[in-house]
Amino acid sequence: MLSAVLHCSQLVTLAGPSRPRVRDELKNLAIIPNGAMTIRDWLIEAVGTTPDIRSRITPQHEIIDARSRVVLPGFVDAHTHAVFAGTRVEEFELRAGGATYQQIAEQGGGIRSTVRKTRAASEDELFQAAQRYRHWFLRTGTTTLEAKSGYGLSSKDELKLLTVIRRLGYVPTFLGAHEIPDEFRGNTDGYVRLLIDEMLPAVARARLAEYCDVFCEPSVFDIPSAREILTAARALGLKLRVHADQLSRSGAAELAADLGAVTADHLEHIDEHGIDALARARVQPILLPASVCTLGSNRYAPARKMIDAGLAVVLATDFNPGSSPTPSMPLVLSLSSTHMRMTPAEALTAATINAAYSLDRGAQIGSLEPGKCADFVVHDCSDYREIAYFAGIESPHSVFVRGKLACSRSAQPCN
Ligand code: NIG
Ligand code: FE
Repeated sequence: MLSAVLHCSQLVTLAGPSRPRVRDELKNLAIIPNGAMTIRDWLIEAVGTTPDIRSRITPQHEIIDARSRVVLPGFVDAHTHAVFAGTRVEEFELRAGGATYQQIAEQGGGIRSTVRKTRAASEDELFQAAQRYRHWFLRTGTTTLEAKSGYGLSSKDELKLLTVIRRLGYVPTFLGAHEIPDEFRGNTDGYVRLLIDEMLPAVARARLAEYCDVFCEPSVFDIPSAREILTAARALGLKLRVHADQLSRSGAAELAADLGAVTADHLEHIDEHGIDALARARVQPILLPASVCTLGSNRYAPARKMIDAGLAVVLATDFNPGSSPTPSMPLVLSLSSTHMRMTPAEALTAATINAAYSLDRGAQIGSLEPGKCADFVVHDCSDYREIAYFAGIESPHSVFVRGKLACSRSAQPCN
C-alpha cells in the first residue's frame, strides 16, 4: 500500500534527537510549511514540502489531500485507567453538592465502587465498555494508549482487566496497588502480602504487563509498602511507574527516583527536592491537569519548574471514572497552557514524542520521521496553536493508524 499526504499547512514533524526532549527542545516542533509525506504500508517513507514529495509520487500512490490543514503525529496518552465497568455519575453529583473525592472514598465509594462493578462484569462486558471509550480516544486524536489495571484488586479480576487491555492493544500496566479492597479493610499488610506473594508472580507468569504502578499515598500505600511492592515488581522484570505526590507530599517522587522508575505521575504536591531527585535519576514526570480540573482543584503540578530543571515532561489524560472522566488530549493541551504556563509547542512535544519515550516506544511513534509508524492526524485548523486555543471542540478531521484511516468526521453541512 502506497499513499501520500499533501498540502499540509503545517506538517508538525517533531523530528529531532532520538531521546526525550528537554528545556528549549520542547519548543522545537520541526514544522514543515506546505508539508507532505509518503507512506509505504504502515511506515512513513519520506517527509518534505509538497513540491518535494510530489516528485516522488507514482500512479500507485493514493492521495490524501490535507487541504491546508495541520497534520500532527497521533497523541500518545501515557497514563490512563481506560478499562472499567459502569460510571460514577452519582459521585459526580455529590461532589457538585460539596462532597470531596477523599470523603467519598472514605465512605466506601470512589475506586472501591468501580471495583465492585468491575468484579461483577465479564471480560467481554469490560471489552465492550472499553471499545466505546477507545472510539472517543481515536476521535480526539489519540493513536497510542497506556492503560492500567487496578479495578479488580484480586488475582482473577486483575488478570481479567489485563487480558482486556491486551485485546485492546494498549500498553499494559499492572496497578493492583490502586486501593485496599473491601475484604482487606484494616489489613493493608495482608493485601500487600497478597500483591507480592500471589498477584505479581501471576501477572509476570502470564506476561500480561510491561509496567507496574502503585498509588503511593499515606492513606493508601505508604512509602515503605510502595517500596516493597515496586521492588518485588522490578525483580520480576517489570518496569516501574508511580502515582506520586498527587494528594499530599509524601516523598513518592524521591522513591520513584531511588528505584529507577521510568515515570512519576501526577506530582501536584512535589517540591524542589522531589524535582531534583527526578532530574538526577532522569525519571519522566507525567502531568495530568484534567484530573486537577475535574476535581475542582487549582493546584496544578509545577510544570515550569520541571522544564527549567531539565525534566522531559509528559502530558496525559488520566482517563478514569472518578478523578478524570475525559479522554481528550486537546483538553489537556488547553489546560496545560491556561493553568501550567506551558506553551502550545511545549505541550505538543509532551503529548507526543516525550510520551512515546515514556512508554519505551520513542523509536517507533511520537514523531513524523522516515521509518516511523504512520500514526497521524489531520486537524481541522491551519495553525497548530488552535488545537489548545479553541477549547471544547474536537479538532481532528481524520485519524490514521499505521497508515490506515481509523476515524473521520462526517462531512460538514456548512461549507
Ligand atoms: O489517577 N489516584 C488514583 N487513581 C486515579 C483515580 C481513579 C479513580 O478515581 O477511579 C487517578 O486519579
Ligand atoms: Fe492515574
